[in-house]
Order: sequence, then C-alpha cells, then structure tokens
Amino acid sequence: MQQGRDGFSSRFGVIAAAAGSAIGLGNIWRFPYVLGENGGGAFFLVYMAFILLLGIPLMLTEMSIGRAGQRNPYGTFRFLAPKTKWYLVGVMGVAAAFLILSFYSAVAGWTLQYLYDAIFNNFAGKSSSELSGMFTNFTSGVYTPSIWTLVFLMMTGLVVVAGVEKGIEKYAKILMPMLFVIIIILDIRAITLDGAEEGLEFLFKPDFSKLDSKAVLEALGQSFFSLSLGMGTMITYGSYINKKEKLFSSATSVSIADTLIAVLAGVAIFPAVFAFGIQPDSGPGLVFITLPNVFQQMPGGYVFSVLFFFLLVIAALTSSISLLEVVVSYFTEELKLTRAKATIVAFAGVGVFGVLCSLSSGPLKDFHLLGFTIFDLFDYTSSNILLPVAGLLIVLFAGWKWKRMSVASEILGEGIKENTLFKLFMFIIKFIAPFAITLVFLNAVGLLKL
Ligand code: TRP
Repeated sequence: MQQGRDGFSSRFGVIAAAAGSAIGLGNIWRFPYVLGENGGGAFFLVYMAFILLLGIPLMLTEMSIGRAGQRNPYGTFRFLAPKTKWYLVGVMGVAAAFLILSFYSAVAGWTLQYLYDAIFNNFAGKSSSELSGMFTNFTSGVYTPSIWTLVFLMMTGLVVVAGVEKGIEKYAKILMPMLFVIIIILDIRAITLDGAEEGLEFLFKPDFSKLDSKAVLEALGQSFFSLSLGMGTMITYGSYINKKEKLFSSATSVSIADTLIAVLAGVAIFPAVFAFGIQPDSGPGLVFITLPNVFQQMPGGYVFSVLFFFLLVIAALTSSISLLEVVVSYFTEELKLTRAKATIVAFAGVGVFGVLCSLSSGPLKDFHLLGFTIFDLFDYTSSNILLPVAGLLIVLFAGWKWKRMSVASEILGEGIKENTLFKLFMFIIKFIAPFAITLVFLNAVGLLKL
C-alpha cells in the first residue's frame, strides 16, 4: 500500500466517480456522431454486444487489477508482474491519455462556447442551416476555440490538483442525475417531433448492409472509449476502491448507467436529425448542430439549453479529470513529482496538442498525417487502435499471467469458492475477449476477410 493515497469514501462515491469518468462526451458527442457515420441500427447492435461481452468483463478486470496493485497503472503492472514487460501496458495508457485529452479538451472547449451561446440566447430565431453555419464558423476560428480548449484544460487541472474526492466526486453525485433528467426531457421533445420515426428507425432498425469491417472496429473502439477502458483509467480508479467493495456490481452498474445515457442521447438526437434535415453523417459537429434546433422547438427551450450545456461541461469535466488523473498519478508515484508540478507538466503538454486539435477544424484543416487531420488522427487512433490493443493485453494479463486464485480473491473475496458467474467471466477473459478483439482487428486492417 502506498502512503497517503486518496481513496473513495463510500460505495456511492465509487460508482459516482467511475460513472463520472465513463459518462461524458463519449456518450453525448461521440456515440451519435460515430453511429451516424456508420449507418445506424446495425452499428448500435454490435456496439451493445461489445459492451456486454467485452466491456463489462474488461471493466471488472481493470478494477480488480487496480485494486490489487494499489498504484497507478504502470506501477501496478510492475508490482503484480515484476521483472516482466507488462508495465508497457501502463506506458501505453499514459500515451493514450495524452492523445485522448488533447482532442477531448478541444471538444469540451466547444461545449463551453455553446454554454456561452446558450446563456446569451444566440441560437434564437436561427434556421437549421444557420445553426450549422454557426458551428462551422466558430470551430474554424483560431483564437476563440483555442482559448476555450485551454480554459477547459485549466478547469480540469484545478480539480485534479485539489484531489478528486472533495471536489468533483461531491458534485458529480448531484449533477450526473440532473443530466439524466434533462436528457429524458429532451427525449420526450425529440420523439414527439414531426418525422421522429425516421430517426428512431435509423437508430434502432439494423440494416446490416451498412455494416462493414471498419464499422465493427469502430463499434469496439466506441464501446471501450465510452466505458473509459483500455487506458488504465479503471485501473487507477480501482486502486482507490475499498477492499470491501463488490467489484462485480460496481462494474455492472457503471456500464449500465453509461450505456443508458448513450442510448438516451441517441434518442434525443436522431429524431431531430431527420426532422430538421441534418445529415446523420455530419461528423463531430452533429450534436452541436442538432440540439439547438430542438431547443428552439420546445417551451422553456432557453432554460433547457443553458442547463444542458452546463451539464455537458460537467460530464466532460468528470471524464477529463479521470484522464488527467492517470497521467498525474504516474508522474507523482513514479517520477516523484508533487501533485501540483505533475499537473502543470501535463497541462503544458496536453495544452499544445489540444490547441493543435482545435485548429484542425480551422487553419490546420488541410494538414494531414496518414490521411487524417490531427484531431481525427488522435480521435481515431486512440479509440480504434490503442484502447483495443491495451484492452487485449489487459485481459491476457488477467486471464493468463495473473494467478487465477488472485483474480478470484479480488473479485469474489478471499477464500470464497468460484461460482458460475466467475467461471463464465474467466472463460470470457481467457478465450472469448482475446479472440474477439483480435478478430475484429485483423478483419478491419484487411488481414482476414470474414
Ligand atoms: N469515457 C469518457 C467519455 O465517454 C472519456 C474517457 C475518460 C475515456 N477516461 C477514458 C476514454 C479512458 C477512454 C479511456 O466521455
């Protein structure tokens, strides 16, 4: 046990913090836009299958590893598997955290601008195409989006410096349920719009002809991204969880809450996409051009728009602190920096890349690396390559390297006999998950044709 480590104080605290990490822009911004680009319903089904089959077991695995290790991901692998190369999984996690935080804070910067616009009633009276134009104009700028990116990162840094427990955890417990309620109200408005059915059909009616191998990989990437997996976030949070906590129920509750929010966000967005003639494959701007239309069409739209963007900022913040926390816990525990120094170093690094991501919709729009803008490169490679590869390594570690008895005592409690659920879990992480992830991967890069 490391000295003076923070920890979560209660069962609800654990769930609130882990759900706070999982629920974020991934659910409300990324899920609808990636689903829209990949044809809708069929993508949704595959996504759900990945959550159930791979996501929940991987979350349970990460939490167990973290709680057993009582350290940051790098230190945890060093501790659980000394004199091996497993610590590289931790290194990958820190690298992925940098990439994800960079584009994440760029998008979170957009949500800050939209909160500002909502407060000043700037959506009022605009047509659907004017709202699209508003988004493009704003994101293609130089200073405003960059400044918002840095402001958001600074907010993230301030919370992380203060320590997690007394800051965000406390507020997340109140604000996350509020977000849930607001989305349900938006859902009711969206599904009663004229032409809503087309959107619901797009979301829920699978058309497998639209599903290619690339879409399957993106569904996998999205499921890991949304649940905060494959990066060491849940290892880090697991290390803060009390030994008495039942990890199985924590992992399941968090996954269910996260999936529910993604589905509710989809239901709020797609009916409106079709009702207002927006293209479902509009890309990263989808939520930002869709929802302001919905707000205009509802009584109290002003209040709801302000509340919604406020809560979206909070949801982004509880996720970004979990990303930053991985980097900071690594810097403090392994490089022995103070918490403040570690945060400043991380802020400086991510700040540069965050601004580059933000400029990718503007001056750097035509700057391509490997065929992607910087933003898309970070977004695409982290979710679709780094997270699945690290996820694969993590299940392999728990399935094949770690002693089965240690896994059992972490998940079931010390000396308790294996039950059927646990046996199923072991079977999944030993065989099914590694096989499935590898297959999806090889299929998408074209080494295998299914
Ligand atoms: N899951 C968060 C979201 O949906 C983002 C996030 C936080 C994340 N920590 C992560 C994604 C670790 C991947 C890995 O917005």
